Amino acid sequence: MSFIRCEALACWYLRQARDLPWRHTADPYHIWISEIMLQQTQVKTVQPRYAAWFERFPSIASLADAPLDDLLKAWEGLGYYRRARFIHQAAMRIENEFSGRFPRDFDALLSLPGIGRSTAGAIASFCFRQPRPVLDGNVKRVLRRWHDQPEATDKELWLLAQQALDGAADPALWNQAMMELGATICGAKSADCNSCPVSEACISAWQVDTAVEKQATVAVIDLHWQVALHLCPQKGIWLSQRPQTGIWAGLWTPPITELNDAPAKAPTHVHLLTHRRLHLYGELADGAPSGTGQWVDDISQLALPTGIHRLLEKQRSV
Ligand code: ADE
Repeated sequence: MSFIRCEALACWYLRQARDLPWRHTADPYHIWISEIMLQQTQVKTVQPRYAAWFERFPSIASLADAPLDDLLKAWEGLGYYRRARFIHQAAMRIENEFSGRFPRDFDALLSLPGIGRSTAGAIASFCFRQPRPVLDGNVKRVLRRWHDQPEATDKELWLLAQQALDGAADPALWNQAMMELGATICGAKSADCNSCPVSEACISAWQVDTAVEKQATVAVIDLHWQVALHLCPQKGIWLSQRPQTGIWAGLWTPPITELNDAPAKAPTHVHLLTHRRLHLYGELADGAPSGTGQWVDDISQLALPTGIHRLLEKQRSV
């Protein structure tokens, strides 16, 4: 990438980029949490949750000291709760092995739970000005089009990303600008080459056909879950904590029974996960609940999956 191209992208970013809260800091704790939140959750969902997180957990030490359940509760609605578990484990390691200070060394960053090469690149470049590239889905798409290499492997893309970064004056600015370009101009569903600051250098500019670009398809499995609703005016609802592995690990739900076949009735709610479509059938249950669990008067105190919140809302309205 020539100096001119880097300048054009950087200038465009400085003039046009969205004003996002994590772009006002170089503090590694803040950048780390924002990057983990943004891994699988949309910017508009993350924005309000970012500030709320630091009110609840102002420091890495406060995270390390908190019970996992508190982190799961604070993560409620963001999905992919494994990320909250990794944050907890990483916070404890930072406290115990790095004296509470976020490591600067790239391999040390990579050794922390939940931090892969791209997230480590974001932390290293945004916080410590290291020339480490970010390669998330948006940046991959930009690079594939820019070099007209639709089939490029991750290994090839990491090389292209590093080469591009090596020509940039400011690694943080470059990485932010590439992500912004992918998120706003060079989108998966459409590419606005007319507005692109680097279209002159892009081999695919003007001929990007998003309709024929390969989209990774994942097989989705349908699951049918009967959800037993034990409701008691005095005691609330009976909830159990799910095992610490598997779907909705560690979250609180009413007792769930997996059905072998789809029942001959419509589900109360259908909740989509990445590889699973959960058909949830709410059933008002009589009699005393069995198994481990507890009566919960105020469900806002525990972390419940969004799918269960939706089911309860729908059940209430029938
Ligand atoms: N997605 C991942 N990291 C991001 C960032 N820093 N800004 C906007 N979107 C992102």
